[in-house]
Amino acid sequence: MSIEINGKDFAKAPQPGQCLRTFLRELGHFGVKKGCDAGDCGACTVLIDGEPVHSCLIPAFRADGHTVTTIEGLARNGELHPMQQAFIDAQAFQCGFCTAGMILTCASLNQAQRQDLGHALKGNICRCTGYRAIEDALNGHHNVEDAAPGTAFGRSLPAPAGPQVVRGAARYTFDMAIEGLLHVKLLRSPHAHARITAIDKSAALAVPGVHAVLSFEDAPDKLFSTARHEQVWMDPDDTRVLDNVVRFIGQKVAAVVAETEAAAEEGCRLIQVDYDILPAVIDPAEAIAPGAPVIHADKGRAHRLANAPRNIVAESHGEFGDVAAALAAAAVTYEGTFTTQRVQHAALETHGGLAWIDPGGVLNVRSSTQTPFLTRRALADLFNLAPDKVRVYCERVGGGFGGKQEMFVEDILALAALKTGRPVKLELTREEQFIATSTRHPMRVTVKAGADKEGRLTALQLDVLSNTGAYGNHAGPVMFHACGECIAVYNCENKKVDAVAAYTNTLPAGAFRGYGLPQTLFAVEAAIDELARQLGINPYEFRRRNIIKAGDPMLSPPGAEHSDVLYGSYGLDQCLDLVERAMQAEAPKAELSADWLTGEGIALTMIDTVPPDGHIADATIVLREDGGFELTVGTAEFGNGTSTVHRQIAATALATTVDQISLRQSDTAHGGHDTGAYGSTGTFVAGLATQHAAENLASELKAFASGISGIDAASCRLENDSLRCGTRTVSFAELAKTAGEQGRALSASGTSEGTPRSVAFNVQGFRVAVNKGTGEIKILKSVHAADAGRVVNPMQCRGQVEGGVAQALGATLYEEMVIDSSGRVVNPKFRDYHLPSFADIPRTEVYFADTVDSIGPMGAKSMSESPYNPVAAALGNAIADATGIRFTSVPFKPDRLFSALSEKFGGGG
Ligand code: FES
Ligand code: FES
Repeated sequence: MSIEINGKDFAKAPQPGQCLRTFLRELGHFGVKKGCDAGDCGACTVLIDGEPVHSCLIPAFRADGHTVTTIEGLARNGELHPMQQAFIDAQAFQCGFCTAGMILTCASLNQAQRQDLGHALKGNICRCTGYRAIEDALNGHHNVEDAAPGTAFGRSLPAPAGPQVVRGAARYTFDMAIEGLLHVKLLRSPHAHARITAIDKSAALAVPGVHAVLSFEDAPDKLFSTARHEQVWMDPDDTRVLDNVVRFIGQKVAAVVAETEAAAEEGCRLIQVDYDILPAVIDPAEAIAPGAPVIHADKGRAHRLANAPRNIVAESHGEFGDVAAALAAAAVTYEGTFTTQRVQHAALETHGGLAWIDPGGVLNVRSSTQTPFLTRRALADLFNLAPDKVRVYCERVGGGFGGKQEMFVEDILALAALKTGRPVKLELTREEQFIATSTRHPMRVTVKAGADKEGRLTALQLDVLSNTGAYGNHAGPVMFHACGECIAVYNCENKKVDAVAAYTNTLPAGAFRGYGLPQTLFAVEAAIDELARQLGINPYEFRRRNIIKAGDPMLSPPGAEHSDVLYGSYGLDQCLDLVERAMQAEAPKAELSADWLTGEGIALTMIDTVPPDGHIADATIVLREDGGFELTVGTAEFGNGTSTVHRQIAATALATTVDQISLRQSDTAHGGHDTGAYGSTGTFVAGLATQHAAENLASELKAFASGISGIDAASCRLENDSLRCGTRTVSFAELAKTAGEQGRALSASGTSEGTPRSVAFNVQGFRVAVNKGTGEIKILKSVHAADAGRVVNPMQCRGQVEGGVAQALGATLYEEMVIDSSGRVVNPKFRDYHLPSFADIPRTEVYFADTVDSIGPMGAKSMSESPYNPVAAALGNAIADATGIRFTSVPFKPDRLFSALSEKFGGGG
């Protein structure tokens, strides 16, 4: 076989049946990614004779005699291809996992194809950006700015990894070749609830190349939670690495470790497992009813399960005032029950990692994780290892959205490496991702609300049933958060919450962007709109009368407000104004027939800028010999943009430019502790630690310069990559040289403990058209205003908003994991799940409130997960405005809207 790849001839023959994607990766072309291996995502796109193809669908031998171009071959003679440069100029990526395939497809488009980008890009999915920045790249827009020394904060500076991302040189979790690597594959349960009575491994062990077959007898007999939090008491201890009881279809039963993936898969097929089938319960309401099968009968309060016999992992009940009396006295009331479905994060990079034991006896785990430090702690506990004998790290992570705030694979990787003594790799398939990793918690939310005739909210009550699935990772914290800010944002004397998180024999739910708030906001913001409508008050005005203002108590039952949540800044009023103004602006008239009904809706949200109960980040910064700086932080980069933001903060504090700041991150072998990149803490917490470290180093530099110049440190200031002391200017490089000659390193560290916390705000507005004959929805206008304090990087923050709105639109309009009555996921593929593509996502106008936070780093607040939160609620309100029908269940698929529409308007419109 002869194949030309990126201008070089290769004669290597592929394995029988091997696809081009894996063949190219074996040859070291790691820019060819896997998102699905099914032709649905485009992450594996390469050019064959100049035409884009999904290399996962092409047998490698079909490339014989053809020229193949991967992203690594697109740049010529050291010059980026114009499309690569356009992606840098527009910053058309976040995690960058889709970017190689996206660039190759975009680079191959002709003028005619560019006229219909929805069609031309239908084969390439981006889960992060919302596609606007990709369209900008195709249109040649330049979204990035420069910054003079000391002025990086507030500028739209490009991500430092951009050149590597567009060349396919950025290294993600699986982009690493290791000598002697073994592969891990998992046998998963076919039953929703069963006890394993026997496992016969003999046939599997006889497969050539199989090194080990691991089952519950081989795993530590310790309970833990896959959820990663700074405080372990936040989650129940209800999970084992491998258990002798399976509680959902897809739970791992055994692991086979082998020389090749094929041998490991064959081993899995040959394991004989005898099960004693147990009764299962799939519906959460049935699960908490008396007499239901008990899912964790062997556990109780000692394991932090609230009521194991009733399948209740966590519950919360409380009331301020007297809601029943307030509802009875209200001028208007509303009651409704809303349901939200199970959706997947669908980060394009699946969960997985590599593990090996180095010559020093340290267990190394290279993982697709948002929490390397907490995962190290959990592995050390599970395997009785000293913390310094475990290293967990990640390079670039291909998207997370909360789904990687878990330990789903590192435990089995560690077990396999420790048992075999060999390096091992486990990369979940897309199907495994759907059936065995976490999802958003489906919720049933009943809301009751009342208001007086002046339009003052007098009663607000939530009754929440959350389905956590078979394990309680994040169940309690998500449930508490879901019942927090969505009602704390309203002044109301009578509030009540009853919330229960229930176990069921379905795959576990977990952390997901928004952390429970999108589900409850869907109900609360509908109730607010319905009250306004009954009173004939404009929904903006009704909200203005009832939202908290700076200084008001932020109350949600059952507890008093968290005493460390403060108004570091307040911009909710501005956000409402910004959205109202933008929605009123004249828009081009849409050409719509009489079948289309139009309407508008808004929803607002507040979010604490840090999760409660501790979120710690350490940062260190060192003056390098060349006068630049090396910053070390523990937090991970997975598209959230923190590697850009941290450098901007440090460069501003040190009067330098971002190119002078090199960054080391997300590695437990370097630097102090970091709780993890979740809850939007990368800017607020790790950013504060970075600011403290940089400011401490600035003081250190002044003190050192004062010592050598004899000028008082108070008269020294940093400017333009140097220190000015009186009339004398010393460059940072000279300072480093002098310190080196004295045997000194100039460095400093900083810490943030995530308290006190501030609050951030978002308002989303939509104008929609609903076809009364078919239920089809068109989004005519989308506007989002965010209060992110002083915005560190406007371009990047806008991208987080666009991406959050796009992801939420997917969940509001299309996405749904369908679970059958046996607990099986019936649509574990992208193509049956419907991730939004370019054509599905409208442009969202993004506006920022003008506030400066007194707590966050240099006045900034977090803004990566909350843009998701108000989307379903705002769209539901817009549809209700258009149709007069309140739809209470997402996703708003046409077939679900159809019957109510035809009942009201007559079949066929
Ligand atoms: S990996 Fe080939 S299309 Fe998704
Ligand atoms: S940037 Fe496109 S998937 Fe992350």
